[in-house]
Amino acid sequence: MNILLLGSGGREHALAWKMAASPLTDRLYCAPGNAGIAQEAELVPIDLGDHAAVIAFCKASQIDLVVVGPEAPLCAGIVDDLEAAGIKAFGPSKKAAQLEGSKGFTKDLCKASNIPTADYERFTSAAPAKDYVRAQGAPIVVKADGLAAGKGVVVAETLEQALEAIDMMFAGSLGEAGAEVVVEEFLSGEEASFFALCDGVTAIPLASAQDHKRAFDNDHGPNTGGMGAYSPAPVMTDEMVKRTMDEIVMPTMRAMSAMGAPYKGVLFAGLMITAEGPKLIEYNARFGDPETQVLMLRLMSDLVPALMASRDGVLKNFDLRWYPEPALTVVMASKGYPGDYKKNTVIKGLDQAAAMDGVEIFHAGTRAEGGVILATGGRVLNVCGIGTTVGEAQARAYAAVDRIDWPEGFCRRDIGRRAIEREKSSS
Ligand code: AMP
Ligand code: GLY
Repeated sequence: MNILLLGSGGREHALAWKMAASPLTDRLYCAPGNAGIAQEAELVPIDLGDHAAVIAFCKASQIDLVVVGPEAPLCAGIVDDLEAAGIKAFGPSKKAAQLEGSKGFTKDLCKASNIPTADYERFTSAAPAKDYVRAQGAPIVVKADGLAAGKGVVVAETLEQALEAIDMMFAGSLGEAGAEVVVEEFLSGEEASFFALCDGVTAIPLASAQDHKRAFDNDHGPNTGGMGAYSPAPVMTDEMVKRTMDEIVMPTMRAMSAMGAPYKGVLFAGLMITAEGPKLIEYNARFGDPETQVLMLRLMSDLVPALMASRDGVLKNFDLRWYPEPALTVVMASKGYPGDYKKNTVIKGLDQAAAMDGVEIFHAGTRAEGGVILATGGRVLNVCGIGTTVGEAQARAYAAVDRIDWPEGFCRRDIGRRAIEREKSSS
C-alpha cells in the first residue's frame, strides 16, 4: 500500500515510525513532515489547507490511504474532500469532527445522551456569562467554543479571573473561536487521556495515557500542548475503561450515527476521574500529542490494518495487542515555549542519545539543513524510554535527554512522577 500521512509533529513521527514497520506499507509519504519523519517517509511540501493539492498528489502517487494527524484539516473537511475524490482517508468527517471543533456541540450532545460531564451554559455575549459566573461562584472554567490551539480554556480560581477570561474571549483575542463561550463546573480528580478506535458503529479502546499539560515541574506555569506522557495510566483500571466505554464513548457513537455523522477515526476523550467515576472534559477528533508517542511504542499489533478497518467500517472482531511494559516520553521544547522562542537553534548529540538501550526519539519542530538538525518549533523533541516500570522508563528517557546537547531547549524533570510514587508505595 502507498500511504500519505498529514502533519508534522511528534505524533506524526510516531505514527510514521509504526506504519513504516508494517509489511503492508510499500511507500510512505508525509506532508509536510519534519527531520525525524524524513527517516521513515518521503516528505512532500504540500500546504494542508490546499485540499485540491493534496488530492492531486494522491492521484499522481497512487495513494491507497491518507492518515490525517492534526485537527485543523479534519475540521476543515479534508476527509470528506478526499473521499469524494475516491481516495480512502482515515479520520472523521467534518461533521463528526465537530466533537473537537465545537465545545458547545459536544456539551449539548452529552446533555441529550446523559453522558457524564461538567454542568455548563453556552453564551454569545459577556453580560449573561458574567451573571452566570457570579451566581455559580469560583472555581469555575471558561472555554472558547472553537479551536484555539490549547489557549481557549481558563480554569479560574477566583471570580475576578473568570470575569477577566470572559472579557478576554469576547474582546476577540482568540478570534472566531471565542465568539461563543462555554462556562462550566470545575471538576476535581485525576485526569487521563483515553483513546478509542472507531468505525462509525464499533469502538475499541486503545491503551490509556496521562499527559502533563503545564510547562513547568509540579504542574506550574502556563498550559501547553503537552510536556510529557506515559502509558498505561494506572488510574484507568479495567473498571474505569469499561465505564468510560459504556457511559461516554458508546453513547457518543450512537448519538453521532443518529444525527447522520457516524464517527470514524480515533476518538480521544480527555477524562477527569472523579469520586463518582469518569467524566468527559473534552473530546479530540484525533490521536493525542504526546500520548501517541508512548502508545505507538506499546502497540504490538500492526497499525496499518487497524486504520484501514476503521475507515472501511469493519472493526467488529478486530483485536489490538499491547506490550505490557510502560513507555514514557519527555518533551524537549524551545526555551520560552508556550510563549515566544528563538528559531533555528542547533541540536547535537541526537544519534548517541537515540542509540541508548530502551530509548526512542521522535521529532516535532525540527528541520535538517546541511547535516545539522535545527529546532524550528515550540515543542521540538520527544525523548522516550521503555522499561519494566515507569521508573525505569523515566530513568532511560532522562539519561537520553542528558546526552542531547541543545542549550536553547528545556524540559520538565518530573514526567511520570505520580505513577512512580504509586510504584514506590506498592513495592
Ligand atoms: P481542555 O483544553 O478542554 O482539555 O482543557 C485544558 C485543561 O483544563 C484540562 O486538561 C484540564 O486540566 C483543565 N480543565 C478543563 N475543563 C475543566 C473542568 N471542567 N474542571 C477542571 N479542570 C478543567
Ligand atoms: N496532549 C493533548 C492533546 O493532544 O490535545
